[in-house]
Order: sequence, then C-alpha cells, then structure tokens
Amino acid sequence: MSNAHLHELFVDELRDILGAEKQLLKGLKKLTDGAVSEKLKHAFQTHYEQTEGQIDRLKQIFDSIGLTARGKKCKAMEGLLEEADEIMESFEGSPSSDAALIAAAQKVEHYEIASYGCLVTYAKLMGHNEAEELLTETLAEEKDTDGLLTEIATSEANVTA
Ligand SMILES: [Fe+2]
Repeated sequence: MSNAHLHELFVDELRDILGAEKQLLKGLKKLTDGAVSEKLKHAFQTHYEQTEGQIDRLKQIFDSIGLTARGKKCKAMEGLLEEADEIMESFEGSPSSDAALIAAAQKVEHYEIASYGCLVTYAKLMGHNEAEELLTETLAEEKDTDGLLTEIATSEANVTA
C-alpha cells in the first residue's frame, strides 16, 4: 500500500475512533448508573475519566500530523451501545445485571483494542513516532480496562449471578 493510501486510512480510522470515544462517554454514564457493585461503578467512572484523556490524546495526535481533530459517527460504537442499552433493560434488577453490563463493556473494549491496535501499526509504518507513542498509551489503557473487567466478573459479578 502506498503511503498516501495508508495515510488516508489512518486519518479515517482516527476520525472513527474519535467519534467512538465521544459516543462512549454517554454510554459510560449509563453503565455507571446501572452498575450495582461499587467496584464496577468505580471501574466505569475511572474509564470515563480515561476516555476524556484519550479524546485529548487523539486531538494531540491529529495535531502531530498537522490536521484538525474531527471525529465522525462510529456506526460500530452506536450498535454496541444500543445493545448495551438493550441488555441493561433486559437484566435490570436481575442478579446477573452486573455481569450483563460487563459483557457489554468488554465488547466495547475489544472494539477499541482492535481499532487502536491497527492505528499503532499504521503510525509505525508511516514513521509517525509521536502518534505511535500516544496511541500505544491508549491501547495499554484499553487493555488494562478489559483486564479489570474480567477480574471484576470473576471476583464478584458472576458470583451472585
Ligand atoms: Fe477508549
């Protein structure tokens, strides 16, 4: 793939994930409100703050390649959050409600991990060092969040389920 085409793809994917992160802020508020376990509530709150930081980081990344940060609506995130709404409604008041929220949130995390993973690769291929570094930081946060959710699922959410 030529550099110009890869650059186009890189920018398109950056816009998608910027849109996705912004959409997720709303979703995380709902997940926080829906969580029963304090530990899970706290994990969602923490990830909300992290997501705000990730949005700032994306702005820095756009800046580093000389572009204005502009997101676009992410259809995948929209669908994931729609499903999260559905599953929250279906399991509201059930002993499995936290496990259901975790499942929804982990699907989101895996989408983000896939997106940032690709972006890191593109940045590396094009020699955008600053972008690569910033994207790698975010990727690590997403993986940590995913791991934390697994830990909560194993330690409490599914115990009462
Ligand atoms: Fe994120």
